[in-house]
Amino acid sequence: MPALVTDHYEQKLDADTIIRQLQEAYPNGPNQFQLAPVDQLHIGGIKASLKLIERIGELKPNSVLDIGSGLGGLMRLVGDKLDLQIIGLDITHPLNHINQRLSALNDANPIPALITGDAHHLPFPDNQFDLIVFQHSLLNMPDATLVLSECKRILSAEGSILLHEVLEGPNHSNIKYPVPWARSADSSHLRSQQELESLIQSAGFKIDTFSDWSQEALSWRKRQSEKEQQAKDSGQATQPPVSPALILGPEFGQMGANVMRNLGSEAARVVEVLARSIG
Ligand SMILES: C[S@@+](CC[C@H](N)C(=O)[O-])C[C@H]1O[C@@H](n2cnc3c(N)ncnc32)[C@H](O)[C@@H]1O
Repeated sequence: MPALVTDHYEQKLDADTIIRQLQEAYPNGPNQFQLAPVDQLHIGGIKASLKLIERIGELKPNSVLDIGSGLGGLMRLVGDKLDLQIIGLDITHPLNHINQRLSALNDANPIPALITGDAHHLPFPDNQFDLIVFQHSLLNMPDATLVLSECKRILSAEGSILLHEVLEGPNHSNIKYPVPWARSADSSHLRSQQELESLIQSAGFKIDTFSDWSQEALSWRKRQSEKEQQAKDSGQATQPPVSPALILGPEFGQMGANVMRNLGSEAARVVEVLARSIG
């Protein structure tokens, strides 16, 4: 199971090209918007992360864990906007390695701390964090019951989980693959709203807010697809220096189109959920 997930993110990953193209295009170091095409690996891009950061700011946590931190876009924004130390955990070791190199290029302060590990077996003692964030990562995890029970264990008594995730929509049987998080249904673990709520509650959390971000996610994906098409039509000169294709390979075009189709047909939804530990 985890091998499939790491294969998905590793098999087309071109780390050296990502770093070289960023260095050439931004000799003084890329800012967070310039890194966004590669380090915001979720629907909604940097705008969605900024929205999530408002929520994190309101919670005023002391210690935060980002599970499935990918290339660290959210972590660097948190460090910058909230002056808060956040630890990232990701199962795909090469992504952690590039995440570190991106922080060095961006001169991130503080440099985010990273651990390679599996969310099903969190390598932390009990009561370690007061906020855990999932941004498009629970969707790769087959055993959400185990993951959420691990979260409960390592959270303080008043701790919270904050999820920005993709769920099944009412027409989920129409879902098209590949999508950016999975090349086929094998490594995609989307749940219905009812299923996710029940998993969260059974793990000992109370849901505070449940927000549907699908419409803005769809508008964002449409704008991205238009920009990608314009860049393609007008040739090499207007191509951005880096793109998610350097992580996910040439199939990324099809993945983006399928995200748009899946949101448009309501096969998938994008949501934000905040839940607090109880009992
Ligand atoms: C779609 S990417 C999202 C990355 C990042 N959160 C973002 O929004 O840019 C999903 C990430 O979850 C990680 N992941 C998947 N399964 C995991 C697991 N069991 N434990 C830890 N990380 C996992 C993947 O390696 C990948 O980096």
